[in-house]
Amino acid sequence: MDFKDLVKFRRSCRSFEPTAVSEEQLDAILDAGQWAPSPMNLQPWEFIVVSDPEMKKRIRQVGEEARQQVIDGGGPGWAKKYSMAFLDQAPVLIVVVSDPSKGGLGGFFGQSQGAMQAACACVQNIMLAAADQGLGSLWFTFFNPESARAILGVPVEKEVVAVVPVGRPQQTPEAPPRKAPRAHLDRYAAAK
Ligand SMILES: Cc1cc2nc3c(=O)[nH]c(=O)nc-3n(C[C@H](O)[C@H](O)[C@H](O)COP(=O)(O)O)c2cc1C
Repeated sequence: MDFKDLVKFRRSCRSFEPTAVSEEQLDAILDAGQWAPSPMNLQPWEFIVVSDPEMKKRIRQVGEEARQQVIDGGGPGWAKKYSMAFLDQAPVLIVVVSDPSKGGLGGFFGQSQGAMQAACACVQNIMLAAADQGLGSLWFTFFNPESARAILGVPVEKEVVAVVPVGRPQQTPEAPPRKAPRAHLDRYAAAK
């Protein structure tokens, strides 16, 4: 798909058909992730490809616990209605894990987010590659990362960045509107 169209065609998908994602599709998606930019090309990410129903259920449980925490903490009302069924439904969940020790030179000047920034670029590439194949995906972060770490066996020195369910979309959601780009000329100018 043309890049301009692809960027706008990609939607956050929250309902999936059970149809399997083929190995070729998955390879293409992970390859696109791998081609994301990263500080010093350190490629500070790894993937956990989850297709085991039991594991998906446990990840959903971690999400449901976070949802309950938000509800109990007086969070937004929509959290009560937010269904995480897509975590069971999607044929595959791609968990993106980053290595904060591979953030490039940022440590010399107090910028500790290099690996996280790269992992986010990686997630976006994954989602665009999925969309390019007519697949839906979601950047899912509604979980306590420490609980996700425990369930997935991720070592303490690494970080769970996102869980990305991928599969054939059951519905194509409406595109949430975007604001006009807010660009400053030459230096930041406070809003009038
Ligand atoms: C860092 C990040 C975290 C997100 N976490 C969640 C999430 O936990 N659950 C969810 O349903 N959507 C999540 N989203 C998706 C956003 O809600 C979505 O991108 C936004 O509403 C715009 O819709 P669109 O992706 O269809 O353009 C997340 C997106 C980003 C970039």
